[in-house]
Amino acid sequence: MKKIIVNGGKRLEGEIRVGGSKNAALPIIFACFLINGVSEIDNLPHIGDVQIALDILRSFGGRVWRCEGKTYIDTTRLSYRAPDPKLASKIRASTYLLGGCLSRFGRCPIPNFGGCNFSPRPIDMHIDACLSLGARLCDGAVVCDRLRGADISFRLPSVGATVNAILLAASAEGETHISGCAREPHIDSLIDFLLSCGADIKREDRELCIVGRELHGGSISIIGDMIEAGSYLVLSLMSGGGITVNNCPTDHMQSFLDGLCDLGATYSVSGSSISAELLYPKYSSVTTSPYPGFPTDLQPIIAPLMAFGAGGEITDTVWRDRFGYLASLSHFGIVSDTRSGRAKIYPSTIQSGRSCAPDLRGGMACLITALSATGESEISDLDIILRGYEDLENKLRTLGADIKIIDT
Ligand code: EPU
Repeated sequence: MKKIIVNGGKRLEGEIRVGGSKNAALPIIFACFLINGVSEIDNLPHIGDVQIALDILRSFGGRVWRCEGKTYIDTTRLSYRAPDPKLASKIRASTYLLGGCLSRFGRCPIPNFGGCNFSPRPIDMHIDACLSLGARLCDGAVVCDRLRGADISFRLPSVGATVNAILLAASAEGETHISGCAREPHIDSLIDFLLSCGADIKREDRELCIVGRELHGGSISIIGDMIEAGSYLVLSLMSGGGITVNNCPTDHMQSFLDGLCDLGATYSVSGSSISAELLYPKYSSVTTSPYPGFPTDLQPIIAPLMAFGAGGEITDTVWRDRFGYLASLSHFGIVSDTRSGRAKIYPSTIQSGRSCAPDLRGGMACLITALSATGESEISDLDIILRGYEDLENKLRTLGADIKIIDT
């Protein structure tokens, strides 16, 4: 494990380029289970979660190589083996093994899926999707002779269950109708990738119609990561407003940018670049909801900005209990109060402190706070943040941050 020592409180300035989206890249890697051939992926982020997903694919015989900045994945010769529980328990996206393995091999054990532990993370809708298409549960695994198209109706728009249902339906016999789907931009990316592989998928808002097909290798360029972009914009607002964030998926960020304005910031967009400035901090409320609403993954990030300004209130309708990170932020002087699924963040005197990263986004919230607090701070378990933020050390140094990373 690594830790980061931050000598904070400096004005940060310069330009950084946002990398490929973690949550777009991961479903696409697992979609390769369905494919007979070689796929080409551009802008695949070099982050911990992606490395683990590629290791899982390699453990089934997948070949992965890079050439001129692109990643190539050959899944022609995959063979079945039980997923390594150690690897599966490291990332949440290992749930996509259900769609990938069941489609390719007709079976998938249900391991202990990992990822951030900020809330209970049930998989009932994933399992229901498998069962609807003809699989059955047997000795802690889902198994099937063949998958057959069916109607699936989700009671809420789960990203992960939508991904698995798409993977299963894309290789099932016949037609599948899925309603109540998630419509995050990374779902569209998965569909675009599968279309390039020969899939037959039609989408209208939250409805999908998929006819199963044999799939060949395809190609995709991973969209920019809106959560990484939002994180650097908040860092900019808390450290003098001098950062320009390039390669932003600006079309996907409207609700977040509106949230910044409600807190008294202003922003300007030029092509795919965004810069922002805090004018007159204002108290405001943020309520997260599935896309196109304010993203839950940016609510831990915006909390320090509220404390830095005039305070605010957060309600998370996606993960109602996602407030454990506030205990870590309290080590940096941030005062908050959580009651009945709602967090009140008080205007606070932000100070240097020490904490471990509680989870990916909560850890980034601590790091942003430490960078804006005068004096020396320390954040341990940095690897948790590196799971989702590409080239963090270089990007922060480019902006003038005084940081030191130590292997512990
Ligand atoms: N849910 C169920 N049953 C299920 C599945 C989900 O009740 O079978 C509920 C969850 O409890 C939650 C809601 O549905 O209340 C939404 O969960 P969803 O399935 O959409 O989340 P996920 O697929 O597990 C992905 C991202 C998360 C992000 C959420 C919501 C990945 C690998 N993870 O998780 O990202 O918070 O969607 O947008 O794509 C992160 O990047 O830091 C992160 C946590």
